[in-house]
Amino acid sequence: MKIEQSSADGAEDAPVASPEHGQETGVTTPSKDPVAVLKGITREYRMGDEVVRALHEFSFTFNKGEYWAIMGSSGSGKSTLLNLLGCIDRPSTGTYEIRGRDVVSMSDDALSSFRGKELGFIFQSYNLIPQLDVLENILVPVMYQDKIPEGIEERALKLAERVGLGDRLHHRPMQLSGGQQQRVAIARSLINDPALILADEATGNLDSKTADEILELFDELHAEGKTILLVTHESYVGDRAEKVLRLKDGNIESVSENRRGPKSRPVSESASTPESAPEVAS
Ligand SMILES: Nc1ncnc2c1ncn2[C@@H]1O[C@H](COP(=O)(O)OP(=O)(O)O)[C@@H](O)[C@H]1O
Ligand SMILES: [Mg+2]
Repeated sequence: MKIEQSSADGAEDAPVASPEHGQETGVTTPSKDPVAVLKGITREYRMGDEVVRALHEFSFTFNKGEYWAIMGSSGSGKSTLLNLLGCIDRPSTGTYEIRGRDVVSMSDDALSSFRGKELGFIFQSYNLIPQLDVLENILVPVMYQDKIPEGIEERALKLAERVGLGDRLHHRPMQLSGGQQQRVAIARSLINDPALILADEATGNLDSKTADEILELFDELHAEGKTILLVTHESYVGDRAEKVLRLKDGNIESVSENRRGPKSRPVSESASTPESAPEVAS
């Protein structure tokens, strides 16, 4: 099955953010600006004589400012998709463009530089460098660039403050809590102002209160217009995103939009609005 995003958008009863939500979040714009465009992406793994098709004819467009949760049960193809989106892996067939650049045909060298500049990664286990302090960890993606951008250290400092670590600049990962380490990772993901922020079970290792604080940070980034793709198997995380893409056996199972705006608070503001909209095209 192949579902183009446009068909989902045009589907009957497709839940669309209300104009108030649009104003509230600033993300519901009439003209879409494609950031990541995937067409006919298939990824197969060969195991001896057997071929596992982890992703099948996947076509989708992620637009600027969108906040997607990518969901699905174990084995549905989430990691495969995230690895492709992050240019860590290459598809067996199909095309993939980020901001109009064909990333499938790029050389490994060009790709690793491109990745550092245009993609921000947030992992479940933070993946910070233990020997580096907070500021240095935030600056890691800059090390992969040919040229050190001017004022980058100041930017790192601002980002550290932005994620609430202004008083922990010279702490090492070991000296930080899990939530604080993930804040460093979020700041690191933003240092090059990437086209896409990719998160893999970003709250998976955190207690619920800390997870909620991290999700609030994502809400803020979304409100600022960042494009976020978050893989999760937890429904409370999926409920916080703007939209949900659900995979099943390497295919798109459904595409839906959560009605509640990310910055809206329950009860008074969304009185009669259900928490999440019914799924489209199931
Ligand atoms: N390196 C690999 N070699 C062989 N099969 C793989 C490999 N990686 C993933 N798969 C298979 O591809 C399918 C999708 O896997 P994955 O993308 O990891 O799913 P998810 O992240 O949703 O659990 C599964 O059937 C899995 O067994
Ligand atoms: Mg996985």
